[in-house]
Amino acid sequence: MNLSTNYMGLELKSPIIIGSSNLSLHTDNSKRYADAGAGAIVLKSLFEEQIVADRQKLLNQEDMYFWYPEAMNFIDDASKEHGVDNYLKLIEDTKKAVSIPVIASINCVSAKEWPAFASKIKDAGADAIELNIGIPANELNVSANTISETYIEILKSVKREVDLPISVKMGYHFNNIVRMSFKLKSNGADALVLFNRYYRPDIDINNLTITKDSVYSSENEITIALRWLALIHHQFDCDLAASTGIHSYEGVVKSILTGAKAAQLCSTIYKHGAPVVSTIISELQNWMREHNFSNIEDFRGKLAKEPEYKKSFERLQFMRKSVGDIA
Ligand SMILES: Cc1cc2nc3c(=O)[nH]c(=O)nc-3n(C[C@H](O)[C@H](O)[C@H](O)COP(=O)(O)O)c2cc1C
Repeated sequence: MNLSTNYMGLELKSPIIIGSSNLSLHTDNSKRYADAGAGAIVLKSLFEEQIVADRQKLLNQEDMYFWYPEAMNFIDDASKEHGVDNYLKLIEDTKKAVSIPVIASINCVSAKEWPAFASKIKDAGADAIELNIGIPANELNVSANTISETYIEILKSVKREVDLPISVKMGYHFNNIVRMSFKLKSNGADALVLFNRYYRPDIDINNLTITKDSVYSSENEITIALRWLALIHHQFDCDLAASTGIHSYEGVVKSILTGAKAAQLCSTIYKHGAPVVSTIISELQNWMREHNFSNIEDFRGKLAKEPEYKKSFERLQFMRKSVGDIA
């Protein structure tokens, strides 16, 4: 079985990508995932704010903060704790530890000041950058259009600064995800990651407090990505990676059948460690053998390209509508 896949111009030996999380802050972990057969690793996101703080510290130290020493201390602390330099070192160390592609990740909400930093990520050895863009769409006076334009502006600014493959990891809070994905692709995105799983507040009704849902996904959450992978793959070509709810080889197979070139894993790695990667890979190979598929492209998009599949993924209502039939 040939599990290799070309994702955003990178040759991956398998479609399993280790999704961005704190796990990749330790190069020992990354080495374990690579040894278990992962095709690539996305590092923990560096935050736009960290980059801006670091730049301001270097550029404007004297004139900007002399009247506000506490700000300088804050920035110093932030940089020491989660430093930009540490991140560049993490890229270098991970590259030394593994022979698979290493994708850096930036968590960002604007194109202000920070994109120039992208070239340092390249210099540190990253093979690509994943833009983890998460702009909350919840203010009365901010239009959907303004938000989508910011996504495009961020992407274009980074593309101008650095010659590396750039993917966009997004959420599903757009009024037309297919069109938004197409705009990202048309403006230079080399791949899209569908979808990030954001923080989810919940309520404790006994203590009347706000709590949070589990940080880990459950397996049935995969259906959100499957719908949009299929609807995008049906309408235009784009390198897609599935994310959220992929816990087993079944999730990887489903993602590829709906058009993904790769599947990102996070929660299942937290729960089961690196061995889950080798289990998924051998079960994926067994499934391919049973179905007479010898490589990933043999079945990629098989349940998305035909018009009848599009209809199934478009459907919103449980009740089927037909003339003279109300059920
Ligand atoms: C503890 C934790 C930390 C995470 N940190 C990041 C991060 O820094 N950047 C990012 O893009 N996604 C981050 N994620 C999201 C994951 O990469 C992934 O998109 C999400 O967990 C859904 O995938 P899963 O169902 O395989 O867990 C984090 C997830 C967890 C559980």
